[in-house]
Amino acid sequence: MKCVIVVLTLLFCVKAQYEFPTEFEFGVATASYQIEGAWNDGGKGENIWDRMTHQRPDLIDDGSTGDHACLSYYKTDEDVGLLTDLGVDFYRFSISWSRILPNGHANQINQEGIDYYNELINRLIAARITPFVTMFHWDLPQPLQEIGGWPNPFLADIFVDYANILYKEFGDRVTDWITFNEPLVICEQGYSTAGKAPAYTQDGIGGYLCAHTLLIAHGKAYRLYYRDYFEEQKGRVGITLDSRMYMPADEESQEDLDATERAFQFVLGWYANPIFSKEEIMKSRIEAQSQEEGFLSSRLPSFTDEEIQIIRGSADFLGLNHYTSEYCTTLTGSEDVPRPSHSADIDAFRYQSPDWESSGSVWLKVYPEGLRKLLVWIKQRYNNPEIMITENGFSDRTGTLADCRRVNYFNSYLEQVLLAIHEDEVNVTRYAAWSFMDNFEWRRGYTERFGIYYVDFEDDDKPRTPKMSAFVFKNIMQTRGID
Ligand code: NOJ
Repeated sequence: MKCVIVVLTLLFCVKAQYEFPTEFEFGVATASYQIEGAWNDGGKGENIWDRMTHQRPDLIDDGSTGDHACLSYYKTDEDVGLLTDLGVDFYRFSISWSRILPNGHANQINQEGIDYYNELINRLIAARITPFVTMFHWDLPQPLQEIGGWPNPFLADIFVDYANILYKEFGDRVTDWITFNEPLVICEQGYSTAGKAPAYTQDGIGGYLCAHTLLIAHGKAYRLYYRDYFEEQKGRVGITLDSRMYMPADEESQEDLDATERAFQFVLGWYANPIFSKEEIMKSRIEAQSQEEGFLSSRLPSFTDEEIQIIRGSADFLGLNHYTSEYCTTLTGSEDVPRPSHSADIDAFRYQSPDWESSGSVWLKVYPEGLRKLLVWIKQRYNNPEIMITENGFSDRTGTLADCRRVNYFNSYLEQVLLAIHEDEVNVTRYAAWSFMDNFEWRRGYTERFGIYYVDFEDDDKPRTPKMSAFVFKNIMQTRGID
């Protein structure tokens, strides 16, 4: 009997002590507008977030801007020093388009912008930290918004010109590229529901036009890399999509299962299907809805055959931003949704369990198992792609250095990553904590903090201090396991 107990205990211990494989890499993530500051310094042009925060401070909770943010533009040396102390394998940051091309177009390159990113990249490499670069993390040059922004199909080629400059200038040292961060948020919130800059409201239309351009832009930027750069640079290009885990409110209810499927299809599938599969579920649904509403053609634009070929298979990995989960049930009849609208097209009522721990963000509730379930869902639906978790993290409003709740969040979510790797054989190869430091949280300004380093925004020098989560994260990276 004793022996059985010992064996069982041992088995349990072994099970609880899965380790991250040696090739698994850890890092932290940021985005240009959220940390750089120097909004009009170094030859940078104006972008849509500069414009919105300056003209509409009422749209930002604390009326703040990213004008100074964390002043990272001036702190390359210091920040790379902190990353070195932390011991990360990679640093995920984004390039500010208007710092490289002040008017958005490739005919006017700002050398100071190129120099800034060269310096950052070179210091990272000297510190043996892999630069993991996002080309577009929401800060569209304002002149490109003047011509309509992402709903304008010409932006696809304009983006490819920008990507070309990035490959040319940095591709000898940067081999890991993400074209877009969270297209869902760019399109849905930027051009449908006004949740993010440029805060347009053309629900059920603007977001679909934006996504159409953006997917073509992504596909073309990917093809350009393989045509002109891959042979020499040997890098890889992916895209970062955001998704919650969606679960039926009642697993026995076919209606709830269908609502869950629609939620997935209209969030993750909207972008993942054209790239990673052949499913066209949104297409038929919106076509039918549009006709019902009196449109002659679908509100969702169609791709030509040539565009389909460009987009399909255009990612070497799937970058995943994941923070929280939701239950789904059917919406019809439960709310009067004006049409046309994206949420009416989804027709799924989504909610979170009151039992899940809350955070500093209304939308973020803690449900760690959701991450493992989502990873398995992606593996099954998209034929086991390589997944890099490009963001995962927890917000608070206190800024406390003893951030136990963030520590618990990382521990519990990372444990689910371990289970996904070891028990479900999901091909997850990277994990980035959001965020390296507290920063400008978009419409929430500086009221919500996601950083593992505290930033004192009251101090003109924006000093950084490690929180407890930074030490714990460092320990996880060193020991390859969760304590
Ligand atoms: C995802 C976005 O990529 C990032 O910019 C943002 O700060 C975090 N979510 C937290 O909301």
